[in-house]
Amino acid sequence: MIKSWAEPFKIKMVEPIRMTTHQQREVAIEGAGYNTFLLRSDDVYIDLLTDSGTSAMSDYQWAGLMVGDEAYAGSRSFYHLVDAVREVYGYEELVPTHQGRGAEHILSQILIKPGDYIPGNMYFTTTRFHQEHAGGKFVDVIIDEAFDPEDQHPFKGNVDLDKLSALIDEVGSEQIPYISVETNVNMAGGQPLSMANLRATSELCHKHGILVMLDATRALENAWFIKQREGGYEDKSVAEIVREICSYSDGATVSSKKDNLVNIGGFLALRDPKLAEKARALLVAFEGLHTYGGMSGRDMEALARGIEEMVASDDHVRARVGQVEYLGNRLLKAGIPLVQPIGGHGVFIDAMTILPHIPQDEFPAQALAAELYLASGVRGMERGIVSAGRDPATGDHHYPKLELVRLAIPRRVYTQAHMDVVAESVLEVHENRESVGGLRFTYEPESLRFFQARFEPITNRP
Ligand code: F0G
Repeated sequence: MIKSWAEPFKIKMVEPIRMTTHQQREVAIEGAGYNTFLLRSDDVYIDLLTDSGTSAMSDYQWAGLMVGDEAYAGSRSFYHLVDAVREVYGYEELVPTHQGRGAEHILSQILIKPGDYIPGNMYFTTTRFHQEHAGGKFVDVIIDEAFDPEDQHPFKGNVDLDKLSALIDEVGSEQIPYISVETNVNMAGGQPLSMANLRATSELCHKHGILVMLDATRALENAWFIKQREGGYEDKSVAEIVREICSYSDGATVSSKKDNLVNIGGFLALRDPKLAEKARALLVAFEGLHTYGGMSGRDMEALARGIEEMVASDDHVRARVGQVEYLGNRLLKAGIPLVQPIGGHGVFIDAMTILPHIPQDEFPAQALAAELYLASGVRGMERGIVSAGRDPATGDHHYPKLELVRLAIPRRVYTQAHMDVVAESVLEVHENRESVGGLRFTYEPESLRFFQARFEPITNRP
């Protein structure tokens, strides 16, 4: 019997990419202020900045672009999307948005009042921004294992029910409008939560009248890990598991630029029609009419098809996560410290361990991401202190326990040979790690600073 998996597709169209010289990359990274977000993609060889909006669509999705209905109101493609979300996620009410943060904005505005607390299994940058923007305070209730890169816990995205209960006791459930539960937690390294944990979290919250809102952006990848790791799920399809995940929640925000296989789009999905009505009232002011919410008809058509396609067979997600694991295992075998178990959407390199000579406030992960680009043209992203930002109350940096470089893998875009080149590039940088120095800000934006911050090397260290 054949044990290897292969991609359940063949390639019909290709897009050339360009290799650059070391000298060109030196100019490019300096011009980008040592921030990989500020590089031009033409200067990037293999782009692992993000898995967001970078997937390759199928021929069926591309065909959908041609038949998308561009009616301003009541588009046929909107109703296709409504049907796809009902069928795959099981939510009745659909509020379409231009992307995930649009949905987070609306959800935060309709549910949070100043002084509220929003527990969550680790923060995500835009999610926490919108919670704080609405006057709320995010409280991290993820299990402690999530902060230890080497801990092999199979469900490092789990909610710590003791931490959650303690918060409820301390502030009272009236001050907690909802819990934000992320599937396959991005900032923890693409780590899943278990069905048992989600079920228990949901029971505890509902007992106290607290809503359960999922960030279901990567629910498919979470479902795959449940199938692999949680007893009783091995014979279920990922389609069934995704439905069960959502069944424990009152709604979800989704950035469709990930699991859903489109380049733009997102939605807020709810069960309560009254809450959906409130959301739609804001939607028309901030995103667009309630039957397009910032997407064109063709975007919605491609999205509806992407949602159907992602769960049509388990083979898609097997190959997707399989490719991430392939890269991760190659690096682990070569002794590169990574977040383990290897996550669903990317490989997360432990910059704190690789660069112990750089203090956290000299941005080790930022420096490592810049160095990797310089060495080979591979673009990753900082997920450490720069991403964590500052505490709005004190103005100090948040000092996250994880200081990571994320190599996020777009879906259906790169081959195994690309992954081999990435692995070699990381090994080369690792060999020269002692020569990597820290950075300091030359420009620090007030919020979501990682997107546009600029840095310079600290050269004259004592
Ligand atoms: N939630 C999660 C878990 C995400 O990973 C993202 C985006 C969002 C919400 C926001 O969605 O970008 O469509 O507005 N993550 C991207 C990333 C940016 O690279 O991880 P968006």
